[in-house]
Formats: sequence, C-alpha cells, structure tokens
Amino acid sequence: MEFKGRDIISIEDLSQQEINYILDVSQSIEPLAKVGSDMLRGKILATLFFEPSTRTRLSFETAMLKLGGGCIGFAEPVLSSTWKGENLVDTIRTVENYADVIVLRHSLEGSARLAAEFSCVPLINAGSGAEEHPTQALIDLYTMRKEKGRIDGLRVALVGDLRYGRAVHSLAYALALFNVELYLVSPDTLRMRKDVLNVIKNKISVTEYTSLDNIISKIDVLYVTRIQKERFPEATEYAKVKGAYRIELKTLTNAKDDLIILHPLPRVDEIAPEVDTTPQARYFQQVWNGIVVRMALLSLVLGTPPDCPKTNKNP
Ligand code: NCD
Repeated sequence: MEFKGRDIISIEDLSQQEINYILDVSQSIEPLAKVGSDMLRGKILATLFFEPSTRTRLSFETAMLKLGGGCIGFAEPVLSSTWKGENLVDTIRTVENYADVIVLRHSLEGSARLAAEFSCVPLINAGSGAEEHPTQALIDLYTMRKEKGRIDGLRVALVGDLRYGRAVHSLAYALALFNVELYLVSPDTLRMRKDVLNVIKNKISVTEYTSLDNIISKIDVLYVTRIQKERFPEATEYAKVKGAYRIELKTLTNAKDDLIILHPLPRVDEIAPEVDTTPQARYFQQVWNGIVVRMALLSLVLGTPPDCPKTNKNP
C-alpha cells in the first residue's frame, strides 16, 4: 500500500483496506507516542490554519515533534501574508519550499483539494469549511476499534449538527465502508447533508431521528457534536437549535453499560460536565488518539523523501 507523497483530502479517497492499514500503523506507532522517536528527523511540517483550532493544530505539531521533525506555521491568517491579500495558491507555492508536508485548515469548501493540486509536498486536510475533516474521522475510528475491539457490527449514533459539522461528514463516509448501523439524530434544520446521505445510504443502513429517546438503549457508540454556530447564515436560526441536544446523566439511564461517548471537541454545552466521569465517556481518550493517528499519517505520507508526484514541481 503506497502512501508516500499522498495527499489526505477526503475520506472518500480512501478504501476500507487503506483505512484499516492506517489504523494498524497507528496501533504499532502508539508506543512511540510515549517515548518519542527520530523517524522524521530533518523533516518539516507546516501548519497553515486559517480557522481557529486547539487540538488539530497542536496534535499535528506534537505528532511531528514526537517523531523528531520540526514545525513551522501560523495559527491565524492575520499573522500571514493572507492579510495583505495573498491568495491561497501563492501561499502554498511558497510554503512547499519550506516544508515536507503541509497541514491546512481553511473556511472554504474545496480549499484543501485546490491547495493539494498546487502543492508538491503532501497536503493533509485539517478541515475544509463545513465539508470534511478526514483526520478526525480516522481518530474516531481508531478510538472505536481500540475501545470496542472492532468497527464492524457497531450501532453508531451521530448526534447534533449533521449539516455544518465537517467531522461527522468524514466520519459518515468512513463508517459507510464498514458493516455498521448508523443512526442520525438532529433537528430537522440540521439534518445530514444530502450529498453525504446519498453516498452512505447506498452502502449501509441509515435511519434519521429527531430524538435520541428511542435509540439510546440500542447503540454502542454515541458521537456527540457541537452546533456549529459560526457557520449559520443567521443568528436567529442558531438561536432556534442552540442546546437542542444535551447529554446528561439522565440521558444515559437506559444506555448500554458498554456504550462509549465520543465527541471531536470542543464541547460547549452539549455534554454536561458530570458525564465526564461516567465509564462511558471517552472524548478525552480521543484527544490522545489524535496524536497517535497523526503520527501514523505523517510517517506514512513522508515514508521517505517524496519525489514530487505532481506536474508543477519547482526546480
Ligand atoms: C472540530 C472541527 O474543527 O471541525 N474540531 C476538531 O477538529 N476536533 C469540531 C468542532 O469544531 O465542533
């Protein structure tokens, strides 16, 4: 399986076999997340974040440092020449001279695909508007496999903002490659995007609900998401769904004992703090797994110094 030099833009670009391979590599690299390694010594990661982030940027940088590499980048566009009017393509054409791999987060859908077309070095999508967040989905799958021992056979509920949440779009594509039953729980106005729904409905059993009540006792994984306030065109629309689903201790009364609760984080008010100490809560373990999976991805795409697989390599 060849990952060297590859971009990671969408889960749709990966086969089930490739995803399993990434999860296997993550598992074998996990001990190095504790002790460190010099596997990527001399390599440089550039993190270009045009949107806010805590976990994604810091865990990519942590992953690179733990593998012996170095990091450059910016966490806010006002700290880059974008603020002066530079376009994304020129930024990428510049940064590819400095870095061996680029991690990009941008508010525009299609931004990562466009940037990858111009980058000679592998480009990893760390969130492209409301579209996709493929590395978060790989972390979610890794967490499910680690905590439940398998992905096939699981009943998974995705809850909250399924319209604007990019992490659930990638996760839905990923789960559709496995033998899972998917329950989509959201307010009517925040139902799963049609383009994603059309793809996943052809592959696995998908049912939509507006309440968790009838399914909480059946599910193995409860994946909670934040209502993506910043992506609502109108503040009044956000006000209507704010706090629509809040997971509290009483929500879990009829849940399976071995249910696991995941959340890509950040959490606002959709999971009550007292749920954090239940045996079901796994969202802070997910954060650790984020370093592990990102170490695996960096080591895979950097395999050995990449020859530019694309046409517009600088001399
Ligand atoms: C998510 C994101 O940025 O899409 N966060 C993350 O990367 N873990 C989820 C969110 O912001 O709600």
